[in-house]
Amino acid sequence: MIHLTEEQRMIQSMVREFARRAVAPGAAERDRTKTFPADVLKQLGELGLMGMMVPMEYGGSGADAISYVAALEEIAAACAATAVVMSVQNSIVCQTLLHFGTPEQKKRFLLPLAKGEVIGAFALTEPEAGSDPVSQTTQAVRDGKYYIINGTKRFITSGKNAHTVIVTAKTDEAKRHKGISAFVVNKGTAGFKVGHEEEKLGLRASDTTDLIFEECRIPADQRLGAEGQGFDIAMQGLDSGRIGIAAQSVGVAQAALDACIRYTQKRTQFGQSIAKFQGLRWIVADMATQIAAARQLTLAAAALKDRGQNFTMQAAMAKLFASEMVNRITGQAIQLHGGYGYTQDYPVERYYRDARVFTIYEGTSEIQRIVIANHIYKDKRN
Ligand code: CAA
Repeated sequence: MIHLTEEQRMIQSMVREFARRAVAPGAAERDRTKTFPADVLKQLGELGLMGMMVPMEYGGSGADAISYVAALEEIAAACAATAVVMSVQNSIVCQTLLHFGTPEQKKRFLLPLAKGEVIGAFALTEPEAGSDPVSQTTQAVRDGKYYIINGTKRFITSGKNAHTVIVTAKTDEAKRHKGISAFVVNKGTAGFKVGHEEEKLGLRASDTTDLIFEECRIPADQRLGAEGQGFDIAMQGLDSGRIGIAAQSVGVAQAALDACIRYTQKRTQFGQSIAKFQGLRWIVADMATQIAAARQLTLAAAALKDRGQNFTMQAAMAKLFASEMVNRITGQAIQLHGGYGYTQDYPVERYYRDARVFTIYEGTSEIQRIVIANHIYKDKRN
């Protein structure tokens, strides 16, 4: 069992207080009106929550992964759309720049991201390359001191609102996954524009768009890592990202359970509070148990990351279990609310819609099972 230290608990309480006061109240309205939570994110940046695991010298808070997980869970419980922006920024974007960026790239790109002054995005997926990113067709062709990028990326979280984007592209078709490279591109670069914006079931306050590169010429010093290292960079970024999605899942599930506890105590049927019916109490008990298990898996993956150990399999397990758990729990939460649960008068219908994508993005449940099984069969002990 992983328990938070005194310091980690202080961060958790600070973020919980902020999330309840400043993030939760506008969540339903932002969802209805598809309004990007720009003001909330600005405040998250001021609190040091947009680059939590980045050292202070690069504008971050220097926190550990466990504190990050605890903080993200609180934001997700208040507003899942805000949490996905926070997760992408902290996990895939900042961690990737921190691990693979040169000192100059860190100063130029990471610092403003970690301070929360700008939003970041990670562009790997394409219209015809989702679970299989090696089949991507975006190309980056070297031209002296430049690369010229051509291609379309799809389903990019914060695509419209991001200023800095990490994008992958093929630099050598023949080398398959070793022929993919990563680049950092800022908005405003000629040949780089935002395309179609998706109309989504949930997470409606967070934008998901195409990003289009047409003869986009960028200096070669905006390549991240070595040429051909892009797939490795993306996979390692996704390892961190998957811990974030697990934490987001736990947060939404906890919010759904809390809503059920409030509702079942208030609602009276057959002459008594429905919280007195054993059939419902057992559902609530199972919900709480599943959330506790998912939280522990998520913290365990974060603890491995903090110890500098490989956490690929644990991140996949946490993401798989937590994202499937929250889909069960938000469905049950609507059931416990009866007809009211199906309306926008209660928050559970939003939780249900928001949670649906958690088993899909940053690697589907099926991909997580592939990652887990590959690690099990590669384990020398077997
Ligand atoms: N870290 C480092 N290297 C890794 C790695 C990891 N986690 N996983 C794989 N690799 C390396 C392997 O070591 C191997 O390298 P070598 O050839 O040098 O040995 C290479 O990558 C290929 O690995 P595998 O043979 O295991 O590859 P595979 O084809 O069996 O499986 C996959 C790859 C796991 C299916 C991978 O393609 C994958 O994760 N797919 C899902 C992609 C995904 O999650 N997309 C979501 C995009 S982001 C998003 O959702 C939107 C957003 O806005 C954030």
